[in-house]
Amino acid sequence: MSQIHPIDVILHKRDGVALTDDEIEAFVRAIVERTPERQLVTDAQIASLLMAVFERGLNARELATLTAAMRFSGDTFDAGPLKTFTVDKHSTGGVGDKTSLLIAPVLAAAGLAHPTPEGVPGICVPMISGRSLGHTGGTLDKLETIPGFDTQLNLRQLADTLIKCGAALIGQTPRIVPADRILYALRDHTGTVESPFLITASIMSKKLAESLNALVLDVKVGCGAFMPTYEKSKQLAELLVQTGEAAGTRTAALLTSMDQPLGRFSGTWVEVWECVDIMKQIRHPMSADLIELSNILSGWMLYFAGQAKTPGAGAELSNKILVSGEAYKAWLKIVETQGGDISVFDDPAAHHKPKATRAVTADRDGFLHSMNCKQVGWAVQRLGAGREKPGDPVSAHAGVESHAKLGDWLRKDQPVFTLYSEDPRLLDEPEQMLRETLAISTVPPEKQALVRETVTA
Ligand code: URA
Repeated sequence: MSQIHPIDVILHKRDGVALTDDEIEAFVRAIVERTPERQLVTDAQIASLLMAVFERGLNARELATLTAAMRFSGDTFDAGPLKTFTVDKHSTGGVGDKTSLLIAPVLAAAGLAHPTPEGVPGICVPMISGRSLGHTGGTLDKLETIPGFDTQLNLRQLADTLIKCGAALIGQTPRIVPADRILYALRDHTGTVESPFLITASIMSKKLAESLNALVLDVKVGCGAFMPTYEKSKQLAELLVQTGEAAGTRTAALLTSMDQPLGRFSGTWVEVWECVDIMKQIRHPMSADLIELSNILSGWMLYFAGQAKTPGAGAELSNKILVSGEAYKAWLKIVETQGGDISVFDDPAAHHKPKATRAVTADRDGFLHSMNCKQVGWAVQRLGAGREKPGDPVSAHAGVESHAKLGDWLRKDQPVFTLYSEDPRLLDEPEQMLRETLAISTVPPEKQALVRETVTA
């Protein structure tokens, strides 16, 4: 690092002295510019700074500067030439959370209906998504169960898809925010993943690299959430909003319940199937919470884009777009443009080919009182639909179907879940995990609102 020495940056943060912008920018530059021959900063020094940040935190300016330095550490998408309104949604991760597969087509349909004078959709969603990890699912793994669907578009192809379809659903390229890749790997090995400051910089650097006018964040709370307590989720939501707004992106964060899987299915293809059914007006009662949350999140996005006077009016508009079939048309256009075979949507149930299924039933009469939602997510992973560590393979036809929601009355032997797997040997452990996690009681549970709180600037 020219002039600025890594050890000085570490000592400042260790001793509680706020870092200057120059210090933060030089440190991040050194992380991405170092080579085996030129160790501008060592892994040990990066790890030390991460721990110092974990202990001391960052003030708002430091966090904004770190986020910007990471955002510009590699390629960024430039939506400027499209002269459109760009908006995206990000979720901190959940079980059965497939709202992206409904929100992207809803917003695309809204954008296609209101083109700019240049003929570009008036709203564009450049959605860069992640893969399943641990107990949470990932949009890319679900999309890749559609034969031919290409998630590895470059930034030029991303722009072309947005101009044509109003939305594109793609994966992270190695050249987008390379600083996060290096920092995340070291955080994973040094007990510093849970810092809300480091999580904020990590999430927001990647989202802001999409060149967004607005961003809506779904921060999960409850037993299936990434953050361990409501207070920590709220702190994260506030930091995310503060950092988005500081970068000039309108940002809202919704704290939403993750006490049970969202919707009917949790897995890979089964989640695509559920969304296709919704867009084709085949409404299953287990999908009601998914539809409600998707409309609320889309509503905020439509409000930010100026297509609705309030987020509530936006949610109504979102539902109208879903019900009218316009979202389904936009979905088919996106999938076809990204190389996917849309014929599988004619009969999505027929494309679901697990080799083994098993029911988990209620062991008594009573109300479905609670479950450990994280445990349900791990059961989905063990069935083959998720991965324990990056790079593990994922099965297209594994998952869990929910037959009841919290508060529902169950009769003894009534199925609560059905398990699906491509390998019959993978059923026993998840079955046991789900049996252990179900609490059935004669007293109904307290009803939780789907959206617990909304954080805005
Ligand atoms: N998701 C991210 O992208 N980064 C984090 O640090 C945590 C969750």
